[in-house]
This record gives sequence, structure tokens and C-alpha cells, in this order.
Amino acid sequence: MRILFVGDVVGSPGRDMVKEYLPKLKSKFQPAVTIVNGENAAGGKGITEKIYQGFLAAGANLVTLGNHTWDNREIFEFIDRAKYMIRPANFPSETPGKGIAYIPFHGKELAVINLQGRTFLPPIDCPFKKADELVEEARKRTPFIFVDFHAEATSEKQAIAWYLDGRVTGVVGTHTHVQTNDYRVLPEGTAYITDVGMTGPYDGILGVERDAVLKRFMTSLPVRFEVTGGRTQLNAVILDVDMKTGKAKSIKPLIINEDHPFFD
Ligand SMILES: [Fe+2]
Repeated sequence: MRILFVGDVVGSPGRDMVKEYLPKLKSKFQPAVTIVNGENAAGGKGITEKIYQGFLAAGANLVTLGNHTWDNREIFEFIDRAKYMIRPANFPSETPGKGIAYIPFHGKELAVINLQGRTFLPPIDCPFKKADELVEEARKRTPFIFVDFHAEATSEKQAIAWYLDGRVTGVVGTHTHVQTNDYRVLPEGTAYITDVGMTGPYDGILGVERDAVLKRFMTSLPVRFEVTGGRTQLNAVILDVDMKTGKAKSIKPLIINEDHPFFD
């Protein structure tokens, strides 16, 4: 079976890319399950119900989130009825929403777990211990388990991938918005990439308007970050998974932009 995962969708340029290319990618690659990280989808910060519904309409089976989960206050109105949206599972236990979902495919289920790192990010519960707990829970139902690890530090992302090697189908990193070139299947069968990359502006700085970012770096003054316009890109990965064992057979990165055009 095949899993398509689309990296952090940033603002309306990212949403437009999803709308345009997700149906094309699905018809070309025929994934059994399609997942989109949508934590930057509303103007770069958070998500709204309309955007969430738009992702499902474009063909996503599940939306994952991250450190910007609560940035658009509308989230509190719909997170508990959004069956196909998960936020990091290691947020404190009082927080609304859920961190694991089971997506049906070919008479089986893919468990998807969203976790967030703690290095250079707000202190939350331990992602390693939460992973142990949820992977154990999921393995009672299915050997197909996918983890979106939303984290800043490459070391923390590598650490959790090695920690979970052989226990889950795949661990993909999100949050840093730059696709890394280290995609591989670890020795015990867990597919891994440090970061899937982002979907949205191609000529911004991580999707943000360049002048504002430069001003912040050069003056340390507080600057309002806006999603930039212009050319756009989509970053994703495709995992091929053994139907018997739930172990990954391969992981391939995917880039669509003016320098890497899409051919269907
Ligand atoms: Fe993030």
C-alpha cells in the first residue's frame, strides 16, 4: 500500500497548490491514504474549519497539525468534531482534540500519530514516552502506523525515528519547511525523512515575505510575518508499504515547482 504525505501547507498559496495538485498526485500515484500537514494553512498560523474541509474535499484523508495548532481561535469551535484532524498527542492532557486517528484502507487501518518535539519549542509532554504509549495502543489494532513528528531539531527527529524503528511504518519530520535529502528506510523497516518540506510560496523565506524576515534578522525588532505571494511549490513524500508486515519498502521525496514541473 502507498501513503502520500504533503508537507506543511502555508497560507492560500499552499492551499491553492493542494487544490490543484492533490487530485493529480492521487490519480498518478494511487495512494491508499493521503495526509496533509495543515498547521500553517490559515495565513501561516493555524487552521479554520473551512480550510480543513477544503483539504478533505481535495482528497486528503487526514490533516495533521503542530506548534501553530491554537493560533487561529476558530480551532476551539471545531477541533472536537473534526474527525479527520489530529494535533500533537503530547500536548498536555487537558487540551482539546486528539493525537491519533485510524484511517481505513483496503479493509485494514492506518494509525496516524502526530507528535511534537521539545527542542527549541515550548515544553510539553515527552514525545518519546507518548510515542511508546500510542504505538503500543495502535499495534493492538494494526501494524500500519505512521508518525508526523513536528519538530525543530534534526537530532530530535532522527532520535525518534531510530527509537521507533521496526515499531512503525514511517516517521516523517515536519515544521522546518525545507525538504531534506536523507530519506531512507531504517534497518528494521521504518521509513524516515527529517523534513518533508513545505507547500506554498516558493520564493519566500520558509513561506514568509522576505523583507520582514530580513528586517527581523538585521534589527532584532519585532516584525509581523506575512505569507508571501509569487511562485508556488508543493513538497511531499510517498511511502510504499508491505501489505503483510506494515514495514516500509521505500520512501521517495516529491517536489513540484517551476524548477521541478509536475508530469502526470
Ligand atoms: Fe510548525
